[in-house]
Amino acid sequence: LPVPSVQELVRQQRPDAVPPRYLRDDMVMGDRRHQESSLGLPCIDLGKLMDPPSRSAELRNLHSACHQWGLFLLVNHGVSDEGMRMMKENVQGFFELPYCEKQKSAQRPGSLEGYGQAFVTSHDQKLEWNDMIFLRCFPPDARSLELWPQNPPEFRMALEKYSEYMRKLVVAVVKYIGMALGIHQGELDLQMRSFGEGKCEVRMNYYPACPEPERAIGLSPHADISGITLLTECGNIPGLQVLSKDNRWVTVPPVPGSIVVNLGQIMEVYSNGTYRAPDHRAVVNEEKERVSIATFFYPGSSLLVGPSPQLLAATGLPPIYRTLSDSEYMQCFFNRKLDNAVPFIDT
Ligand code: SIN
Ligand code: FE2
Repeated sequence: LPVPSVQELVRQQRPDAVPPRYLRDDMVMGDRRHQESSLGLPCIDLGKLMDPPSRSAELRNLHSACHQWGLFLLVNHGVSDEGMRMMKENVQGFFELPYCEKQKSAQRPGSLEGYGQAFVTSHDQKLEWNDMIFLRCFPPDARSLELWPQNPPEFRMALEKYSEYMRKLVVAVVKYIGMALGIHQGELDLQMRSFGEGKCEVRMNYYPACPEPERAIGLSPHADISGITLLTECGNIPGLQVLSKDNRWVTVPPVPGSIVVNLGQIMEVYSNGTYRAPDHRAVVNEEKERVSIATFFYPGSSLLVGPSPQLLAATGLPPIYRTLSDSEYMQCFFNRKLDNAVPFIDT
């Protein structure tokens, strides 16, 4: 279903109220009064994880971050400023292009990939205050290059390089999260290899300024179905919020030089519930547009989605999630996506 671009709506109509189809009073955005400052959100230093003398202390911080939040800021991640800048500028540059130019990358009917909006399945469905371009990057044969923008001229190169940097980074992140969970040797290597060979998809988001920000939502609350999501802010406009264990929406501040690591449901399942795949959402603001880049990583499809065998053996605890094949897992998600529940708690 073709959906109007919110960016165009704002550009052309300069509305002073949220149009009905975007009104989300059902989400009680008024609960933003429960929104807390970001104090207490964990920050993890990859340099400390890599350096043997500081590793064990930082692994304890990482364990606590994944258990308490399932989301943390990662600093010292080793991706060059230049690599990050290239990508951010090209994504911002893409959204600044005229609508007709962006439409060259428009989603094809029935497909999520390309420029448009996510998961619009009916004419009366409420809409999010968000335009996006979603592109598959790995494995390389999953790329729909005909949807990759030719404009800005360096966009393709920037995305190719950025996804390669993120893939290297996620392998390191998976390694240390595995270690924090107590996984070692063969199973740890398998996890790292699997994420290195698995799917990588990039979702670039544009949230225009909104005349009544508390009555619309940029992105509805959800937990990611990925293994791990790496999130980059293109500017210094806050918008991402994560639900804390005690049900408060906490703003994740844009911190220059950091990348947000968000655990997806595959990791929650793998950790047998020790680690969280937190609900999160994006809110909008009255003054400024916001641009963000979410990169989703999945383990290779040969790996089953289920609790870690090593972890179950070491803890002696029963599995609280079923073990599913990659396609059964995805099926489960697509059947259930509207109620946004972790798909397969065994009861
Ligand atoms: C964002 O922070 O803009 C996106 C968050 C998400 O992908 O869920
Ligand atoms: Fe998400």
